[in-house]
Amino acid sequence: MDPKGRSKWELDTPCLTIDLDLLDENLQRMQARVAAAGKALRPHAKTHKCSMLAKMQLAAGAIGVCAAKVSEAEALLAAGVEGVLITGPIATPAKAARLKSLLRKSRSLMAVVDHVFGVELLEKQLAGSGLRLDVLVDVDVGHHRTGVAPARAMDLVQRVMACRSLWLRGIQAYAGHIQHIPRYVDRRTASLKALKQAAAVFRQLQSLDEGCTIFSASGTGTAATDLAVPELTELQAGSYALMDAEYLAIECEDGAECADYHPALTLLTTVVSVGHGRQVTVDAGLKALYRDGGRPRVLNADYTRLQYDWFGDEYGKLSAAGRGALLPELGTVLELVVSHCDPTVNQFDRFFITRGGKVVDVWPIDLRGRCQ
Ligand SMILES: Cc1ncc(COP(=O)(O)O)c(C=O)c1O
Repeated sequence: MDPKGRSKWELDTPCLTIDLDLLDENLQRMQARVAAAGKALRPHAKTHKCSMLAKMQLAAGAIGVCAAKVSEAEALLAAGVEGVLITGPIATPAKAARLKSLLRKSRSLMAVVDHVFGVELLEKQLAGSGLRLDVLVDVDVGHHRTGVAPARAMDLVQRVMACRSLWLRGIQAYAGHIQHIPRYVDRRTASLKALKQAAAVFRQLQSLDEGCTIFSASGTGTAATDLAVPELTELQAGSYALMDAEYLAIECEDGAECADYHPALTLLTTVVSVGHGRQVTVDAGLKALYRDGGRPRVLNADYTRLQYDWFGDEYGKLSAAGRGALLPELGTVLELVVSHCDPTVNQFDRFFITRGGKVVDVWPIDLRGRCQ
């Protein structure tokens, strides 16, 4: 049955919905802030995994989008999205070969390198092909997940500059360990300190080659404060588009419990069993809601005091802490802000797009499951 035109409360659950007006506000707000600071936005598509949403970000003014993995970039390019930066390093010949095929389709594709091994792999793969790949050196500013240490970054820069098939365009420096620091002032201090190291590398790089014009960094948690870094040229924030409980739980201003962006993404779940005391069972468990991150929040006005807990693979539990708290009846549909958006989105095939509570469209989550 075509869901368009129906109330979102009639949708079969569990399912994901996006409020189009809230999404649009989030996109416009981030874009306006970034533009006002004279920077560019290349939002991370790993968050929403949806090429239709990526196109909306491009229409709002983004210069491209980021992909975490080669397989995400494949889906984005297949949908006609340009300006894709793959933010994870390439470490096998198989991945380098896939990247080469992608480069044939889109010359605006970019990738990062964080080790001589990856540089040589890409150079070897592209040799004699007539193709040239734009690359950024990924600088580790304290997350220790990917990236070269700042002190060794210029050695890697020299190595990339010696390659015929790679064109060095700048650096990437994502401070993932800082994005969710709850206190605003601590988060700002930590981020500015981290980016200072990367800025020093970027200045050195520019003194070698003025053509290196990209310094790509930042996420939703630090975007507002990172805009003050003069050397930063583009932001990679992702979660701001959909938001989640993890991001709603951090301060957006000094001492203020607020959120810069709205939870445009919600999950609908139905009460499927009652009669278990001060709790009811809903149909969204581990296979629908990712467990790490914040605790999902109930949005229905009558039930905001209920606490969600995971209750196995298929189920969740909503408990009433206080005696007075109302418990929903069997069959009630509840709307939850999700724990952590990226891995939750990865559990579903589609978003139901709503406006004023009515379904207006259905968007495939076409990057779903693309973890290679
Ligand atoms: C390399 C990179 N850049 C940007 C982001 C976007 O961060 P956020 O979703 O917190 O805005 C991520 C998310 O993990 C990331 O891994």
